[in-house]
Amino acid sequence: PAAGEAFPIPANVYAQTVVSVKHYTDRLFSFRITRPQAFRFRSGEFVMIGLPNAAKPVFRAYSIASPNWDEEVEFYSIKVPDGPLTQHLQNIEPGDTVLMRQKSTGTLVTDALSPGKRVFMLSTGTGLAPFASLIRDPETYEKFDEIILTHTCRDVAELDYGRELVANAAQDPLIGEFTEGRLHHFCSTTREPSEHMGRITDLMTSGQLYEKMGIAPLDPKTDRVMICGSMEMLRDLKEIVEKAGFEEGSLARPGDFVVERAFVG
Ligand code: A2P
Repeated sequence: PAAGEAFPIPANVYAQTVVSVKHYTDRLFSFRITRPQAFRFRSGEFVMIGLPNAAKPVFRAYSIASPNWDEEVEFYSIKVPDGPLTQHLQNIEPGDTVLMRQKSTGTLVTDALSPGKRVFMLSTGTGLAPFASLIRDPETYEKFDEIILTHTCRDVAELDYGRELVANAAQDPLIGEFTEGRLHHFCSTTREPSEHMGRITDLMTSGQLYEKMGIAPLDPKTDRVMICGSMEMLRDLKEIVEKAGFEEGSLARPGDFVVERAFVG
């Protein structure tokens, strides 16, 4: 179509309206879109997102950050100056249209874990997104007594979305009663001084994570682990938990841990 004319909506794609946008840093923002009535997903899953700005729009995988009882759908995104999607997506405003493929999927779901007492949710950067969904889902608290959510970023400002998320969950009339005394949030930075410093990998191997949090070390008998971050982070953490005796799970064969790569670019 010529400039000004709308592009057709591809098959099996929902065209939804942006409800709100919040910028956290020059690298990070979150946004909420209207939720199609028929859209169902498991907390922790991802979906393909695009913009109606081309005949063949660019789609990228985004973890759904909202819980499945939410009337809107929330995402937490990086901004990449020359990223095929995010260079445009970072400019969206309320009222704009965002495309979302109809089917969600993913491995970071509690159904892929065997029963346990504690669940560790380990994240770096935008890898927090699927956990933003899971910590707001009552089902997570039905399956586990305690949630240990860790988030590591370069700088302090990059922890804001997660801090706000946990504070709001505690105040939420539906979720607050579950989180109290059961949701434990641990933040660390690697490039700017803060209360806790260091990569999550180092904090786990040195035992500092458990000391600082005052909790028992990771144990495959009682604990399950969900990991979301960069490829390197997934590789390193997978090695650590496998050495500790954890076995990877899937929907077909639930296990002790699951991993998913966070959205990039
Ligand atoms: P670092 O500052 O030492 O690279 P990014 O913003 O690049 O996605 O990184 C998010 C966080 O993940 C940073 O704190 C970064 O630490 C950390 N990180 C990067 N690679 C790894 C890894 N292999 N294992 C654990 N943490 C990592």
